[in-house]
Amino acid sequence: MPAKINSQLAIRRPRVNLETINIVSLADLNQASSSEFSARVGSVFEGSPWIAEAGWLRRPFGELGGLHASLCAIVREAGTDQQLALIRAHPDLVGRAALAGTLTPASISEQAAAGLDRLSPAEIEKFQKYNQAYREKFGFPFVICARLNKKEAILKGFEMRLAHTREEEIRVALEEIYKIAYLRLQDMVKP
Ligand code: GUN
Repeated sequence: MPAKINSQLAIRRPRVNLETINIVSLADLNQASSSEFSARVGSVFEGSPWIAEAGWLRRPFGELGGLHASLCAIVREAGTDQQLALIRAHPDLVGRAALAGTLTPASISEQAAAGLDRLSPAEIEKFQKYNQAYREKFGFPFVICARLNKKEAILKGFEMRLAHTREEEIRVALEEIYKIAYLRLQDMVKP
């Protein structure tokens, strides 16, 4: 992970709902069977257990960063179709699932960390307009690491990123997903 992202992550350790997290050590993960490993790590990439399944083959991992790098490498080595499926597994921010209360526990915490559970009706409408414009242009949802951004930064991100090409946006979305995964791993894996 680049130094810039590392320092960003170190400075801002957002709150999460600990009841939804099962803590495990790296030593235990290195010893785990394929199914145990997938059960633990499968949720690190939203709706995409295939990444953890492939990650098990790359054990043992010397440190958290090594586990994260291996999982991200699996995504980088995957084809565009699988990368798009991973991006599309993410719920819209302030989208239908968020408003209906059907998000995964991790997604609920992440959207709340950005303050997206406390928006005015006008702000909700703004998010919905951006979500729609973004999906119409790129054909997948807008992904930004919600735990590292507040609502103002997210809205600015929509504006800036709507000007990108689709190729650029696939790259940016995947980088954001790697940040989301790193924070989820940090919550889950302890010495
Ligand atoms: N969709 C856009 N950003 C995020 C995020 O940080 N977490 C989840 N779960 N979904 C998202």
